[in-house]
Amino acid sequence: MARSVWFQVAIAVLGALAVLLFVRLHNASGAPLPSEGVTAGHRLAEAWCKDCHAIEANTAGTRGRPTDFVAIANRLSTTALSLKVFFKTSHRRMPNLIITPEQADDLSSYILSLRRD
Ligand code: HEC
Repeated sequence: MARSVWFQVAIAVLGALAVLLFVRLHNASGAPLPSEGVTAGHRLAEAWCKDCHAIEANTAGTRGRPTDFVAIANRLSTTALSLKVFFKTSHRRMPNLIITPEQADDLSSYILSLRRD
């Protein structure tokens, strides 16, 4: 009994180390690690927004309407605040999704990460 608990702990620790190593290797390759909010926002966009909007940097321009996220990100008027206000207010042409403040943060981080400067 006690032995199998230790075994499980050891496996968990090894798993955590493997994850850390993976993250470190990613860092070492020079590619910037996206912040957590951006990653979470990307996941949300894939689940909720992809049916209507082109949400990826490499799908920019593949749909006319609704506007793709890259175009939204590159508008000078787009800020984290303007996006959050948009998510909070009701809009006529886009469904009013229920988005928590945290999810709004993540989604706006993701959209703004697509900005090309
Ligand atoms: C059912 C389709 C649909 C879904 C799902 C949807 N949208 Fe939209 N969205 C629209 C339409 C239609 C507009 C109206 C503006 C347009 O025609 O480009 C719009 C507009 C917007 C705008 C403002 C664009 C502008 O021109 O200022 C933002 C920002 C936006 N959507 C973000 C999102 C995000 C983030 C999600 C996912 C959480 C999402 N949308 C999901 C259809 C959708």
